[in-house]
Amino acid sequence: MIEIKTPAELESMRRASRVVAEVLSQLQPLVKPGVSTAELDKFAEKRVRELGAVPAFLGYRGYPATLCVSINEEIVHGIPSPKRFVKAGDIVSLDMGAVADGFYGDAALTVAAGGISPEARRLMDVTRESLGRALSAVKAGARLGDVSNAVQKYAEERGMSVVREFTGHGIGRRLHEEPSIPNFGRPGSGPVLKAGMTLAIEPMLCLGRADVVVKNDGWTAVSADGSLAAHFEHTVAVTEDGCEILTAAGKV
Ligand code: MF3
Ligand code: CO
Repeated sequence: MIEIKTPAELESMRRASRVVAEVLSQLQPLVKPGVSTAELDKFAEKRVRELGAVPAFLGYRGYPATLCVSINEEIVHGIPSPKRFVKAGDIVSLDMGAVADGFYGDAALTVAAGGISPEARRLMDVTRESLGRALSAVKAGARLGDVSNAVQKYAEERGMSVVREFTGHGIGRRLHEEPSIPNFGRPGSGPVLKAGMTLAIEPMLCLGRADVVVKNDGWTAVSADGSLAAHFEHTVAVTEDGCEILTAAGKV
């Protein structure tokens, strides 16, 4: 069952999501050559707590940090480490969730550290815009497959591949609720969206093939062929005529 949130529940979702948006915005300028991924994580945890929320990923199925930091061929779930340093030319995906008043917000973005290659720039741009296309497909009465297909079509027409092992998800009182939101699918298929549903939509694209391997740490998902990957995510609420982006930057 896909839950419909009440106006009061949506208000809590806004609070949690605003914390995520603000902390991700503040992290972006810190993603510079020489910073360790553990430093980024420390900053994130401190800011989430200062803003009166709780890190959502920390302890989730044993995940050991506030932030996921996934660099270059790492697709998602990179574990921050004091020994891992960002270097010039890297593309760095930051993924974070927060809980406020018992409700979750979840968002991700990929940023460039120093100058990056034109293909890396293109991958980032196409991934960001594939999320934009997905959000444009969201409204009451649309089908989930319309949203999934919007990502797939935009990405594949531009020669990028869509990661299939990981999906977006409903979100609310839990980080992962129904439905699962694949980044590929057929228009007109799947459940009908209704106002008050809250969804975390998160395209993950690769420049090469999209096959995934999980590293020995049990978390870090990398592209099997070593090709670059990018990831963007927003938590949104479905409305009658579109959606409200709860994790939009600048909503603080
Ligand atoms: N945005 C990811 C997701 O929705 C992040 C989860 S990381 C985890 O699944 F550590 F919490 F698993
Ligand atoms: Co998510």
